[in-house]
Amino acid sequence: MRALTVIPEKSGSLEIRDIPDAVASPNELLVEGIAFGVCATDREIASGHFGAAPPGEDRLVLGHESLGRVLTAPAGSDFAAGDLVVGIVRRPDPVPCGACARGEFDMCRNNLYAERGIKHLHGYASEQWTVETDYAVKLDPALGDTGVLMEPATVVAKVWEQIDRVSTRAWYEPRRVLVTGAGPIGQLAALLGTQRDLDVHVLALADKGIQPDMARKLGATYHSDPLPEVADRIHPDVIIEATGVPSIAMAAMTHPAPAGIVCLTGISPTGRQLDIDAGELNRRTVLENNLIFGSVNANKRHYHQAAQALAAADPNWRSGLITRRLPLAKAIDAFTSGQDDIKIMVEL
Ligand code: BGC
Repeated sequence: MRALTVIPEKSGSLEIRDIPDAVASPNELLVEGIAFGVCATDREIASGHFGAAPPGEDRLVLGHESLGRVLTAPAGSDFAAGDLVVGIVRRPDPVPCGACARGEFDMCRNNLYAERGIKHLHGYASEQWTVETDYAVKLDPALGDTGVLMEPATVVAKVWEQIDRVSTRAWYEPRRVLVTGAGPIGQLAALLGTQRDLDVHVLALADKGIQPDMARKLGATYHSDPLPEVADRIHPDVIIEATGVPSIAMAAMTHPAPAGIVCLTGISPTGRQLDIDAGELNRRTVLENNLIFGSVNANKRHYHQAAQALAAADPNWRSGLITRRLPLAKAIDAFTSGQDDIKIMVEL
């Protein structure tokens, strides 16, 4: 069967290859791949800056944003042939640390976790794949191919859950959220904000095109002015940073309303130097009781939250997030995302 593969840490090594057919173990589903989504992490792996192949192998099968249909399921499991499923990305570290031992592998404490399609485990970008029943999540069939948005939706479901949890530190009734970035994570973070009846603002570079249109369709207010100006106008109680652009992340950290919460979700490139006023960042964070935290990945609880959030979204909006659908033979084109792309999906 065919799969999209890469040699981690080697740019230009992306290749569609024949790999051995998937064979399910007794506790696994055999799944026919429907599609996979491509995100900035996949592009970073393809450019040689991230990722690790399974021990003893050169190549990694990519694909952590999965969608497939069950072909065979173990007898007595909660799955049956025909179910629409996604596979969870992360697996607990083998020690395991306290968080992984409790199913909170998204908060792994020793970094020894593995991730399908990213770190030490093959991903889901193959015509068929297997997944342990414990790490598969069944989707509402009505989601159709927009089920490929599940993994990025789990990332933002975790973000909102974490915001809820940390906001119990004192009285706090957030009304206004500013999301920076209008790609898949930004749009989905905004969706969950609107589902909480918040006044949602999205800030990104483009002043026209699909990204502002999709944010406005959600009922969000769209801005393309510099973050400090927008924040001084709207006083966001919560900022969700989803660009990973170092200067925007820095501006986000210094611009929540007092006692505000800033959640950083973008994975920045390293090695770029910025001139920053570190005193200002520290002073504002202290004097205003601001809270800045990072969030990555998601556990099974967040997959269930994301499945509900996606199912509750307008189906046309959901499908509008997928701006390009490519066949596997053209998968490599998905690694150059255009200005007007939100999510690029590769069909299997
Ligand atoms: C994925 C996460 C993953 C992270 C770091 C992101 O693109 O959505 O699941 O933990 O990359 O590997």
